[in-house]
Amino acid sequence: MKKLIIANWKMNPETIEQARLLVTGLEHRMHQVLEKTDVVICPPFTFLAPLSHYSHLTKIGAQNVSWAASGAFTGEISANMLKNWKTQFVILGHSERRLYLGETDSMVNAKIIACLNAKLTPVVCLGGEEGALKADMKSLVSKQFLQVIKGLDKKHIEKIIFVYEPIWAISTMKGSTPATGEHAEEFIEYIRSLVAKKIAKDRAADMQILYGGTVNRDNVHDFARFPRIDGVLVGASSLDRDNFWEIINEFARESIHKS
Ligand code: 13P
Repeated sequence: MKKLIIANWKMNPETIEQARLLVTGLEHRMHQVLEKTDVVICPPFTFLAPLSHYSHLTKIGAQNVSWAASGAFTGEISANMLKNWKTQFVILGHSERRLYLGETDSMVNAKIIACLNAKLTPVVCLGGEEGALKADMKSLVSKQFLQVIKGLDKKHIEKIIFVYEPIWAISTMKGSTPATGEHAEEFIEYIRSLVAKKIAKDRAADMQILYGGTVNRDNVHDFARFPRIDGVLVGASSLDRDNFWEIINEFARESIHKS
């Protein structure tokens, strides 16, 4: 299975020129890793349309979507609108949206359904809740998992990419501490076991489950060396061309060793 590296640019960079340089820089080198990794860039909404012209070997994702298909929802963007801009993925349930914008599990659930109806792949973060401690993560992850998949049937659950992204490991959170590779692997396998209770075990084994939180070129090996960590969701380091390239490359290298 290919590794999946997703860049969450959050509310960065400031200009389309900076965004274009980040994408074109990657595009030049993507052929080196294409067989082993998929790379998805999730820029702010306003860059989706222009970047769709520069992204060929990289894929495009969004950082949010409305749960509604259309109508009076000021400031929102629908899943079908995202499809117009070559968007294939949408990050949902991110800690920052939960913390600063009051996003709840039931909103995430409705947004997953909106994505699936539009044939967009939901990238669903688990592990974000204000004040969540390391010791509480299993109960938090299983609670969020059960809430966000409510009402979904097996064939829909299979289409979700889950990410274990503990809020305390996100680099920009006050007092953050990165997780270790062992911890990330343990929780990815924990999420896989939750999924396996809902769909066939062999299908759960085939699903891509990622880790996110302070992944950078200095620590990427500690995550990439675990075969069951299927990739990473990267924030700050994805805005630095060389740093992000090292992350992609390390996953490609590890995947070659193990294939
Ligand atoms: P950092 O990589 O900056 O910790 O951000 C992680 C994140 O929030 C990705 O969604």
